[in-house]
Amino acid sequence: MNVVAIANQKGGVGKTTTAISLSAALAEAGQRVLLLDLDPQANATSGLGIEPDSEGSMYYPLIGEAKIKDKIIPTRIENLSIVPSGMDLAGVEIELARSDDHLTRLRKLLTALKRGKQYDYVILDTPPSLGVLMTTSLASADEVLIPLQCEWFGLEGLAKIVHIIEQIRESGAAPKLKLEGILMTMFDGRTNLSRQVVEEVSNYFPDQLYENVIPRTIRIGEAPSHGKTIFEHDPSGIGSRSYRAAAQEFLLRHSEVGGPIA
Ligand SMILES: Nc1ncnc2c1ncn2[C@@H]1O[C@H](COP(=O)(O)OP(=O)(O)O)[C@@H](O)[C@H]1O
Ligand SMILES: [Mg+2]
Repeated sequence: MNVVAIANQKGGVGKTTTAISLSAALAEAGQRVLLLDLDPQANATSGLGIEPDSEGSMYYPLIGEAKIKDKIIPTRIENLSIVPSGMDLAGVEIELARSDDHLTRLRKLLTALKRGKQYDYVILDTPPSLGVLMTTSLASADEVLIPLQCEWFGLEGLAKIVHIIEQIRESGAAPKLKLEGILMTMFDGRTNLSRQVVEEVSNYFPDQLYENVIPRTIRIGEAPSHGKTIFEHDPSGIGSRSYRAAAQEFLLRHSEVGGPIA
């Protein structure tokens, strides 16, 4: 079971869209996937057409009053389950900040889940802030996938998240945390800027940069308002094809390193 945090402290860069689309594409490819919505805004939950649910969220597991497995619900997509989010999850920030073990709590919960061998991948959708939910997510992950929008400010954000990953490693909470990949989102082929940003990232992170880029499309933007994945909303469009290709690339990268960590 590999735990993959989809993270970038900037909002609106495509984290949730990537978390939903990658989870759904991996499930479609036969992987058993659990999506944990760790953003109190619950966009991954509602984007899948599921009602946000504070009671059913990671709140109680994180404060030590429930197990993750009691909060898992199926989605209509075969092989894809979710722990939904809800506004109350925001309260966990304060509760966790008071405890000494806030960085390792989610990791411990996930270790219990690993023993069940029910999932190949656990995907974490994280909030756009440097709060406890974000650092806890990173500290509990085996690897990080950074969605990066093809804009100049995206590069600044990249330097920051890479630094945060280093800090988490150095804290000892997750010494093996790996920067798995960088997925370029909202690519606009008509502009030189998009191409320049991709070029710049490939100079600094040649091994992490995904070959497949996700274009900016109206269909991708619309899908969550229908509570649908891009594969349901526009099955054969460029958005679907690019996220499927990125998921295949993800699987290939993982088969090269020996598949999911047992
Ligand atoms: N490739 C894309 N093309 C068009 N719109 C997109 C694309 N990716 C994301 N969006 C839209 O941009 C907004 C922010 O994306 P989201 O995935 O919610 O980002 P984050 O989780 O990082 O805040 C959402 O309204 C989403 O539907
Ligand atoms: Mg989001």
